[in-house]
Amino acid sequence: LGGSRKKNALPKVNQSIMKEDPKVVTQMDIEDIGEKIAFCRCWRSKKFPLCDGTHNKHNAEANDNVGPLLLRRAEG
Ligand code: FES
Repeated sequence: LGGSRKKNALPKVNQSIMKEDPKVVTQMDIEDIGEKIAFCRCWRSKKFPLCDGTHNKHNAEANDNVGPLLLRRAEG
């Protein structure tokens, strides 16, 4: 990659999402979230930052146990 980047000491978490940006930051208004939403925490979703279930494939291949952050609107 670019010459100014530090040499990697650890494997990358983010393999493919917004790699041209120095940092991946997502902002979402609470009002735009419906009754429930699932945010990806495995960094492999094709719908990032939303979960598309790709974590299941990763978990099977890597013997890992990652999963989404589920937000649900409280009743009442
Ligand atoms: Fe990444 Fe589900 S696809 S947590």
